[in-house]
Amino acid sequence: MQNSVSIKDLSLNFGAVNVLENLNLDIGDGEFLVLLGSSGCGKSTLLNCIAGLLEPTGGQVFIKNKNVTWEEPKDRGIGMVFQSYALYPQMTVEKNLSFGLQVAKVPKPEIDKRIARAAEILQIGPLLKRKPSELSGGQRQRVAIGRALVRDVDVFLFDEPLSNLDAKLRSELRVEIKRLHQSLKNTMVYVTHDQIEALTLADRIAIMKSGVIQQLADPNTIYNAPKNMFVAGFIGSPSMNFLRGEIAARDGRPVFATNGVDFALDGYRALDLLQPGRNVVLGVRPEHVAVNAEGIETHKATVDIEEPMGADNLLWLRHAGHTLSVRVGGARRFAPGTAVTLAFDMGLASLFDAQTEERI
Ligand SMILES: Nc1ncnc2c1ncn2[C@@H]1O[C@H](COP(=O)(O)OP(=O)(O)OP(=O)(O)O)[C@@H](O)[C@H]1O
Ligand SMILES: [Mg+2]
Repeated sequence: MQNSVSIKDLSLNFGAVNVLENLNLDIGDGEFLVLLGSSGCGKSTLLNCIAGLLEPTGGQVFIKNKNVTWEEPKDRGIGMVFQSYALYPQMTVEKNLSFGLQVAKVPKPEIDKRIARAAEILQIGPLLKRKPSELSGGQRQRVAIGRALVRDVDVFLFDEPLSNLDAKLRSELRVEIKRLHQSLKNTMVYVTHDQIEALTLADRIAIMKSGVIQQLADPNTIYNAPKNMFVAGFIGSPSMNFLRGEIAARDGRPVFATNGVDFALDGYRALDLLQPGRNVVLGVRPEHVAVNAEGIETHKATVDIEEPMGADNLLWLRHAGHTLSVRVGGARRFAPGTAVTLAFDMGLASLFDAQTEERI
């Protein structure tokens, strides 16, 4: 795959604070890449370096194989959509869309054609004569996306475009952004701290912590084979259960021993790396715990709390000094205090080294 955006050894500091240090990232042509991480980790800083709104302290940025490190934002072939829509309040929607093109001296028939196309894709045709104050938040954000769309750019950069919207609008517009990418097939770099947006939209997710990319992979890999405990704990709601313990040998087979209880590790993908005595953390997602399952090794537990959520029922179980979150079907109800059994699907579990926190 040809690269659309390449970031080479990028560094940026604000005074004495290093926000990015020797960061490398290649984004494929037509790829939807999501930069995911908590507040302050450097997502916007990285995006703004790609856009040319921030000057890096070191390193280079390439767009379509051209070194644009010192180019003006307008010459980079990018369109940017921000969290705040930043529309011109005194102009109609149509004028907001056409203004930049008029300044760039694009001929009128071409402007009309591009606006008609953007209006159709984003379903804002009926709104063209209105002013931003006469639009809902979701409609305003659609216009802001339209303004990037009419510029006919190679790369779209989004900085948390949905975070000012309420939950319902956010999920609606998320689907529209996905549809937009499916039809345009442009390269998109999308910043968010919302893991659902990342998992649903991305071809690949770059998950960041303190300016460092922790893992760069497709959503399925990030979810099921997280590289370390940070990634494992960041993705998934409720969070993955973490149990501290150590590897022990029982009848020549490795088991996970925690608080006086042993769990067989049959089915774990890297049994040969599990030397007895190694301190580890077992990570199990709530949906990978079986409750009252028959025919497999089970452990006694007690239901502490249940949180029915319609389609799912979330149980909080007490087991050997641990509290575990467990997801079962919405029809399976358990009164607090009920005695149950639990079993882990070790084929889907993760073991982390207790010191390095890397996945084994
Ligand atoms: N102009 C600036 N001067 C000094 N420090 C800054 C400046 N801009 C950002 N920072 C710092 O750089 C770090 C990264 O900021 P950045 O805006 O990239 O975070 P972010 O991941 O986009 O967070 P958020 O999700 O809150 O938008 C933060 O610690 C922030 O305080
Ligand atoms: Mg930001």
